Amino acid sequence: MDIRRLTDRLGGLAFGGDYNPEQWDEQVWKQDDELMRRARVNLTTVGVFSWALLEPEEGRYDFDWLDAHLDRLHANGVAVDLATPTASPPPWFTLAHPDALPVRPDGTRLTHGSRDTYCLTAPAYRRAARRIAGALAERYGDHPTLALWHVHNEYVTLCLCDHTAAAFRVWLRARHGSLDVLNEAWGTAFWSQRYTSWEQILPPRDSQWHRNPGQALDFSRFWSDETLAAYREQRDAIRVHSDLPVTTNLMVPGYQNLDLWAFGREVDLVAIDHYPGAPGLDAAAHAAFDADRARSIAAGAPWLLMEQGTSTVYAGGRVLAKEPGEILRHSLAHIARGSEGALFFQWRQSRAGAEQWHSAMVPHAGPDSRIFREVTAAGEAVARLGELAGSTVRAEVAVLHDSDAWWAMRVDGLPSSELDYFAALRGAHRALWDAGVTTDFAHPEQDLSRYRLVLAPALFLLTDAGAENLRHYVAAGGTLLVQHFSGMVDERLHARLGGYPAAPLREALGIRVEEYRPLRQDERITLSDGSTAGSWSESLRTEGAETLAAYTHGMLAGSPALTRHDFGRGRGWYLSTRLDDTGYAALVGHLLSEAKVSPELSGLPPGVEAVTRRAADGRSWHLLLNHRDEAVALPRPGHDLLTDGPLRELPPGGCAVLRAH
Ligand code: GAL
Repeated sequence: MDIRRLTDRLGGLAFGGDYNPEQWDEQVWKQDDELMRRARVNLTTVGVFSWALLEPEEGRYDFDWLDAHLDRLHANGVAVDLATPTASPPPWFTLAHPDALPVRPDGTRLTHGSRDTYCLTAPAYRRAARRIAGALAERYGDHPTLALWHVHNEYVTLCLCDHTAAAFRVWLRARHGSLDVLNEAWGTAFWSQRYTSWEQILPPRDSQWHRNPGQALDFSRFWSDETLAAYREQRDAIRVHSDLPVTTNLMVPGYQNLDLWAFGREVDLVAIDHYPGAPGLDAAAHAAFDADRARSIAAGAPWLLMEQGTSTVYAGGRVLAKEPGEILRHSLAHIARGSEGALFFQWRQSRAGAEQWHSAMVPHAGPDSRIFREVTAAGEAVARLGELAGSTVRAEVAVLHDSDAWWAMRVDGLPSSELDYFAALRGAHRALWDAGVTTDFAHPEQDLSRYRLVLAPALFLLTDAGAENLRHYVAAGGTLLVQHFSGMVDERLHARLGGYPAAPLREALGIRVEEYRPLRQDERITLSDGSTAGSWSESLRTEGAETLAAYTHGMLAGSPALTRHDFGRGRGWYLSTRLDDTGYAALVGHLLSEAKVSPELSGLPPGVEAVTRRAADGRSWHLLLNHRDEAVALPRPGHDLLTDGPLRELPPGGCAVLRAH
């Protein structure tokens, strides 16, 4: 889809959030109209959890109330991202279809009384979801205030019921063709797990000890495909009546039920929700991480931040408040990395109900509050950035990101509980972010030739095609860093024999890993170059590579820990342990300079983020975010769109958008 269609419709970047007027009355709606104008809201997501109101009993719809709100929003100049309400089936639905309630891995069937109480594979649920999506599209497909369709809400719910078992078997038949092939793939020769009929196969429910890893990985793949199929059904039901863009808000958390790459190909516009998992600088790094992931799965195209909190930082079982200035800074952090706007959950903080303590654009205290003043300032700022619409961000560095590798690292029985795909990805991204370099995520099998540097953290599962692609990337002149526990297994989770990682990659790296040796809990080691590390070590031999740092402890003393190999026109680096942050940052800094990658803007101190958005016609903008609590002089002053004037210095916690063309 041409994203310009949405931004042209909005007259610039999007600003707004989830709007649940059904929680309020007429007096509040009137105030909402006025406050939305004040805050420059131009897009609201409506109807996300409204199933019980829209369809009070099976097959009987009540659209009158929604008609009134859409007309009101339209009259107020606010466009609508209309959601299908399928993430929260009403009680009548689950009572009529108890088999559509989700079942946990331990066999417990949940009850209604919360949200997300559905099983995606239950035929009754799928029928009901298609029906209401189609009914909404038929009713509102031509409504002048509609700008976007929003299918469902964060597809995250897993279910291991008998419907799921049946659908899993259908998927397995299509993937493996025969039971012999499946038995071979899953290694069922061990532990007497051989299947002699399809009906014997279950989803990976709780069992006595380690569950079969092949079964677990295939289930993750199946679940993602099944979710995508459920999304497509609703999308296609909408398309019968409307040609507006369709999306779903992806949750991009630290676990993963969906193949984000596959979703990126199916939505008209990638949309994500982002809630930081720690305060301060880490929140900013986390926003950059998720924003870079969103842009990457959108294949570099603009995308949309569908949800964030005005004052929500989930950390250690608490919901921490955002500091003054962070509403704007976090919004711009996403816009800097390609988001076509900044939306929030939700417009008005609920007075009652399950999320009454979740922050909102209009807090309980009302508009006379710091939060609403900051929201209004952010709306004002975003309204000034219309000329950025449609521009995007280019990166010269990529971190490899693969759902199969991620899922593979969640199976039972791995050799260390410290092996953590998400932490490895975040660590690599963080080192690049700290260095002021913009990063893409890339799939291991995609064309990597546009990147000067590629990092491969914890790429445990790597296909033959992926290994060959990485070999080719180095041979053609790329610089590649592969980190420990990569290329260990193929797509069936079968170990690579004869030494790790997969052979084509060994050739590019000029090494052969003979033995993996997880370190003891809290064990610290020092390498010969003085850097320190923990968690993991490997016994490896160089086969052409040079050793840049060696182990100094135990039986590994003197053997290579960090290696570099000139291969073809490029260089393959291998890091066989987990360096501490300082050592890792130094290594990444070295790689960046070797690969001739410089920060987006030089001369900025740490804690000042800079990203450049570029338009197809050559215009470009530097977005600068000062995460420090002191003023920072700009190396190159420029015209700031936020203040519409020249800018020489960023105030403490301040932001700027400088025209660079
Ligand atoms: C999102 C969800 C919203 C709201 C929010 C609270 O994940 O889509 O509906 O629950 O979390 O943080």
